[in-house]
Amino acid sequence: MHQSLLVTRTDDGVTAELREELFLGEGDLLLDVSHSSLNYKDAMALRGDRGVMRVDPLVPGIDAVGTTADGQLVTVNGAGLGEFRHGGYTTQQRVPAAAAVPVPERFSAWHAAAIGTAGFTAAMSVVALREQGVDDGEILVTGATGGVGSIAVHLLARLGYRVVASTGRPEHGAWLRDLGAAELVGRDDEPGRPLQKARWAGVVDCIGSHTLVNACAQTQWGGTVTACGLAQGPDLPATVLPFILRGVKLVGINSVDAPRPVRERAWELLDATLDLAVLEDLTSTVALSEVAAAGEELMNGQRRGRTVVEI
Ligand SMILES: NC(=O)c1ccc[n+]([C@@H]2O[C@H](COP(=O)([O-])OP(=O)(O)OC[C@H]3O[C@@H](n4cnc5c(N)ncnc54)[C@H](OP(=O)(O)O)[C@@H]3O)[C@@H](O)[C@H]2O)c1
Repeated sequence: MHQSLLVTRTDDGVTAELREELFLGEGDLLLDVSHSSLNYKDAMALRGDRGVMRVDPLVPGIDAVGTTADGQLVTVNGAGLGEFRHGGYTTQQRVPAAAAVPVPERFSAWHAAAIGTAGFTAAMSVVALREQGVDDGEILVTGATGGVGSIAVHLLARLGYRVVASTGRPEHGAWLRDLGAAELVGRDDEPGRPLQKARWAGVVDCIGSHTLVNACAQTQWGGTVTACGLAQGPDLPATVLPFILRGVKLVGINSVDAPRPVRERAWELLDATLDLAVLEDLTSTVALSEVAAAGEELMNGQRRGRTVVEI
């Protein structure tokens, strides 16, 4: 029996209902989907957010992990799934073959979904820091308890950096230290001076707005700041001073349309670096019927780490 979670906007609001049918999107590869995950974007789609839910009705799920007709286990992160076309919250989906990366042997389908877009984006951010020559030193990770942040903390610590985790939820401090954070700092989300004490060799920012601006203002000469998120806001109320007086580099991270070589490099880093026991510890699992409630919790700041959706 096939099953899909379908989100529809109505005059009275938004409905998310389990339907015993398929809604196949466009794509040249048919997947038997076994797992998806819950990302910030999925939580927004489950609320019917027009910025994410670009077609109506929509099967959300920006990640799909499943098996092809010839038995290959693959993962698709982004590529318009769960935004512009039906996504992974279903038993079967058509996906673009160019975005389907074989799951490294050491990961199960559940592991690949636990990594999901958030882990893939964390890995892209770490790859970007290394490509810009950030080889050691202190790295700030903002939104550290989130999906992207928590996996970034872990990957960076495994690679030998001294990781400083910025979080608005100090009650999760012990958990962040277990992931590899050497130090915790609070959210730095108030407007600050254009140039501040230079501390960071690199930054993985998931938050945007004043947090990202302050991170740039605190980055050392020649350091790199990656920007992937907007949990605080999409604005960037900055000056050019960190860029023209300290040579700070700001690198944008986009996972959705990442070309295949970028996808492969990120998954290679995950394969080489991620500790499976840590991934298992930072991930919880929900059924398709529970994902809408889990999405509300994520938007209300009541979840941490990653959430796998078992199809
Ligand atoms: N560019 C891309 O391709 C890409 C890919 C994946 C995700 N993203 C974006 O990256 C961000 C993080 O995604 P995620 O999946 O990790 O989300 P998540 O699990 O919800 O984590 C977001 C974290 O941000 C912090 N936060 C939440 N609301 C905040 C606020 N108002 N002000 C400051 N901090 C706040 C919280 O961390 P603390 O409680 O620890 O402070 C929260 O755990 C999102 O904006 C998402 O859209 C972008």
